[in-house]
Amino acid sequence: MKFPRLEDVDVAGKTVLVRTDLNVPMQGGKVSNNNRIVRLLPTLNYLIKKKCRIVLLSHFDRPKGKFVPSMSLAPLVDALSEAMDGRDIHFGVDCIGPAARDAVAKLKPGEIVLLENLRFHAQEEAGDAHFARELASLGDVFINDAFSASHRAHASITGLSSFLPVAAGRLMEEELASIYSIYSDAKKPITAIVGGSKVSTKLELLESLVTRVENLVIGGAMANTFLLAQGHSVGKSLVEPNLKVTAKRILETAKKKNCNIILPVDVVIGEPGLSGSNNACVGIEHIPADQMVLDIGNETLRTIAGCLAESKTVIWNGPVGLFETRPFDVSTIMIAREIARLTSGKKLQSIAGGGDTVAALAIAGLGESFSYLSTAGGAFLEYLEGKTLPGITMLMEAKNGSGSIKAHA
Ligand code: 3PG
Repeated sequence: MKFPRLEDVDVAGKTVLVRTDLNVPMQGGKVSNNNRIVRLLPTLNYLIKKKCRIVLLSHFDRPKGKFVPSMSLAPLVDALSEAMDGRDIHFGVDCIGPAARDAVAKLKPGEIVLLENLRFHAQEEAGDAHFARELASLGDVFINDAFSASHRAHASITGLSSFLPVAAGRLMEEELASIYSIYSDAKKPITAIVGGSKVSTKLELLESLVTRVENLVIGGAMANTFLLAQGHSVGKSLVEPNLKVTAKRILETAKKKNCNIILPVDVVIGEPGLSGSNNACVGIEHIPADQMVLDIGNETLRTIAGCLAESKTVIWNGPVGLFETRPFDVSTIMIAREIARLTSGKKLQSIAGGGDTVAALAIAGLGESFSYLSTAGGAFLEYLEGKTLPGITMLMEAKNGSGSIKAHA
């Protein structure tokens, strides 16, 4: 896989557009985990040294083409500044048009401006070429450092290469090199752990994973749909009844492909509204009609620990419980500890990805113990699945460089 790296494009003194992924976890209007920000620093520091004017482009959440105040990137200014030892970060209240042009025109060499959420314009997700041209008109060079958004064929991911020289940023390079080197050479048995609440987006990915891994642990809200498909009642839990048929198909494929599916056999329940006080662990046959499943139970955890002990490679995306709310973080942390222990003892190669997963590992203080932590969620899984990521294809088809991930693997 060849693609242009930062060194392959002439950036010195230029205005450089950097597609980042600042879709970071927020709580009370503040960034609650700055991993995606910190991981951008190698690219930003390189460009600062080259006296570039740096224009950061990003999406945040899914505003569906409208201005949604709570999805503004404005709160990211302080978080970026803090991560860069108090450096001034400017803000442009729009990503195209006069506001964007003015904000960029004011930049001095080495300065950074963050432009407002790309997805406030419907043309971004539509991959609109005119919108891409407007973005491109703001700079001289385009750097894709948003591996975690590169599974989207959006204007800011794939469209700018028609107008500007492009290269991969340092984070993109690191992601491709690390995931490639661990996964392409994966020792079997491989166990994938998939959880979290983006149920509908991950079911298709699960369908593919069952054909590639020996064990698939399904946790989080996603497991509820599978339990429902198996005929269990899941009370007031988050569930997608319309995906029952898909869930059944996945279970059937898994059987044919000898993929061992691990679903919860017991769960921790709570009342909707989430007071953590009355949590109880029950078998999946006994989920009360007025309660929600909020974590997996002890017996399920023991099964997962047994499976991990037999595995050589673990791929993890998505917490298995509602880890933001104690005590529903317990299983996610216990699994993280077990993987960290086995990885430190060189018994396991471990890769984890996804904002929530990485945040959970940070809370548990275990991130460093994994073989590699990706900043991506959906893109991470699609890459592992062997899917073509539009943002990577764009880089590979660029004619202006010769980087190679093998060279760095
Ligand atoms: C992510 O957080 O996985 C990326 O920012 C992509 O977000 P999306 O799923 O809304 O496209």
